[in-house]
Amino acid sequence: MIISITSLKGGVGKSTISQNLAVCFAHMGYKTAIVDTDTNASSVHWSGLREEGLPEITVLGLTDSEALRKNIKKIHNDYDIIIIDGTPSISKLVSTILVLGDVVLIPIRPSGFDIWATEKFIESYEQAKMLKDDMRAFFVINEYNPRANLNNEIKEALNELAIDTVNTTFRTRIAYGEASVLGMGAYEYKDPKAKQEATNLANEVLHILQNI
Ligand SMILES: Nc1ncnc2c1ncn2[C@@H]1O[C@H](COP(=O)(O)OP(=O)(O)OP(=O)(O)O)[C@@H](O)[C@H]1O
Ligand SMILES: [Mg+2]
Repeated sequence: MIISITSLKGGVGKSTISQNLAVCFAHMGYKTAIVDTDTNASSVHWSGLREEGLPEITVLGLTDSEALRKNIKKIHNDYDIIIIDGTPSISKLVSTILVLGDVVLIPIRPSGFDIWATEKFIESYEQAKMLKDDMRAFFVINEYNPRANLNNEIKEALNELAIDTVNTTFRTRIAYGEASVLGMGAYEYKDPKAKQEATNLANEVLHILQNI
């Protein structure tokens, strides 16, 4: 199964969610890989920080659309779950990432919501959907704050789009950044609330994959 993670804008939590899902899946016993398609290579770098002895996660860097498509085909059968950590740019690479995923997750940050970026993204999304009409895509709200008014507007705006939103949200938690610089996921770190959020998202995504 392939989980594609892409976004409308940069810095919204693609790599955080990729790494946290990969860690949960690896602990559940799934053979897991991350394919990092971003030239900043943050998940590739993360894998270099990961200590021996933790459940293994293969991380490969592939920043070219054709190379991604061809190499994913080659490694597809070697893993139970491949997570594609995407790029925010509207490019051929984004279309390839969208088409490759059995499920597509689109992290958004309520504070950084940008309707223009959303509209641009929906265009790429609609194009990809023409190539693959059974595409399953979901927004994931990252840095959710139930006390901020803006979030309610966003929730309403999201409801109007033809893309569903998963139930799990990630709050702003220092643990995500701290775990990441140790090559870990929240599942392996000391904040039980972050661990619970990561676990909830992993379970919810597995449930979606099982129902495809
Ligand atoms: N829920 C969260 N709580 C606290 N910090 C977070 C959270 N999600 C992400 N961050 C932090 O925000 C920064 C950007 O997140 P991340 O690198 O995951 O985004 P990205 O979408 O992959 O960015 P890019 O487009 O640059 O690849 C990181 O420093 C990360 O640790
Ligand atoms: Mg990233």
